[in-house]
Amino acid sequence: MTDSIRVTGGAPLTGEIRVRGAKNFVSKAMVAALLGSTPSTLRNVPDIRDVGVVSALLRLHGADVNYDVESGELTIDPTALTKADAANIAEHAGSSRIPILLCGPLLHRLGEAVIPDLGGCRIGDRPIDFHLEILQRFGAVVTEHPDGLHLSAPNGLRGIKYRLSYPSVGATEQLLLTAVMAEGITRLDNAAVEPEIKDLIDTLQKMGAIISVDTDRSVTIEGVGRMHGYDHTALTDRIEVGSWASAALATGGDIMVLGAQQRHMGMFLNVFRKVGGEFDVVPEGIRFYHPGGELHSIALQTDVHPGFMTDWQQPLVVALTQAKGLSIVHETVYEKRFGFTDALVAMGAHVQLFRECLGDKECRFGQLNFKHSAVISGPTPLTATEITVPDLRGGFSHLIAALAATGTSTVHGIGIIDRGYEDFRGKLAALGATVE
Ligand code: EPZ
Repeated sequence: MTDSIRVTGGAPLTGEIRVRGAKNFVSKAMVAALLGSTPSTLRNVPDIRDVGVVSALLRLHGADVNYDVESGELTIDPTALTKADAANIAEHAGSSRIPILLCGPLLHRLGEAVIPDLGGCRIGDRPIDFHLEILQRFGAVVTEHPDGLHLSAPNGLRGIKYRLSYPSVGATEQLLLTAVMAEGITRLDNAAVEPEIKDLIDTLQKMGAIISVDTDRSVTIEGVGRMHGYDHTALTDRIEVGSWASAALATGGDIMVLGAQQRHMGMFLNVFRKVGGEFDVVPEGIRFYHPGGELHSIALQTDVHPGFMTDWQQPLVVALTQAKGLSIVHETVYEKRFGFTDALVAMGAHVQLFRECLGDKECRFGQLNFKHSAVISGPTPLTATEITVPDLRGGFSHLIAALAATGTSTVHGIGIIDRGYEDFRGKLAALGATVE
């Protein structure tokens, strides 16, 4: 598959596509299967690069993984786990941050784990300090080696009381995957409560875990001695759904997204409506369309759940370039998530970045020289240009911009988009886009 495509914009995206399981849940549920003493089955799994990467990592550790693209069914048999070395893990992990989440399960099953240097999109520093602190609090011993971090649990893993200074999704998952079989009770305060986390908790509960989530973002887990496999259907990828919805707005289109689930999209749907989009929730999914007329500018702040998700921001900003007036976006989750706007400006958008917090929420990046607020003035016609994709969500946003622009754009580095958007080439074709 070539890494560049030519996109001819100017036509509305119209038609029907299906979105399958959530990238940011499926990879974690696959890791959770290692905790089971019997095989697990995960359904509605999308054919994306991240699934391939995690499958390779699990096979590297001796698990048997089988995936049927057609049915979306993935089975994992974790009964014959073995150790793996950092070089192999690094080679298979590529730019994925998943290796750090393998620690808890591997420490429980094998008594040791290895973390090579981590990857992930360059949208900020992506530290793992919360993860390491949590693992050490459970009793893991972390030693730095030239090939990465080596972890062991000489005295086993015991339950902890821990409060996250920031409701980190990954750190919450780290704690859950370790606490479920740690000895005693674990309590986590200020946990992340994203729908993907809730699905992971449901999955762990199916395996035999005892977990409760309180209304104040606190989670209590009673460690159990043994867990078995699960059979679970992944929730739909709400980030991908939001990305296609923004594409409908930006191109004046009408897209039926089969599989979309309103209960995970509340804040997005409110914003989509405020900008001027229309949507119909039907049993099979959600239809997103531009009703004609003007789009309206808005003031928007990203936040942890139930706020407007940071991963929805980049595709929506493309639609905001077509809205009348000034829009203000304050990105409070990642410090460097507006890099993709350079390409939009090159196409004719009016976007200015600020280091101030342009929103009513105090933010960790205020006055730290991170340009994490954007002001977009529209509507501005976009013209085709040559683009190189910066990261996963920014890359999809560049595709949307190219589809909204007049003329033919060349987009390089689109392989990154395969990490999180299943068959996006086929979906674009189904929606009438002119791509080669
Ligand atoms: C997950 O990343 C998702 N990735 C991200 O989606 C998503 O944007 C993010 O959660 C927020 O919802 C996966 O699930 C694979 P965090 P994660 O830990 O877990 C700081 C996509 O495009 N932090 O909630 O890495 C961190 O710097 C990706 O699908 C620490 O300071 O996100 C950031 O500012 C992009 N120390 C904030 O927390 C730590 O040890 C949020 O990060 C960990 C995180």
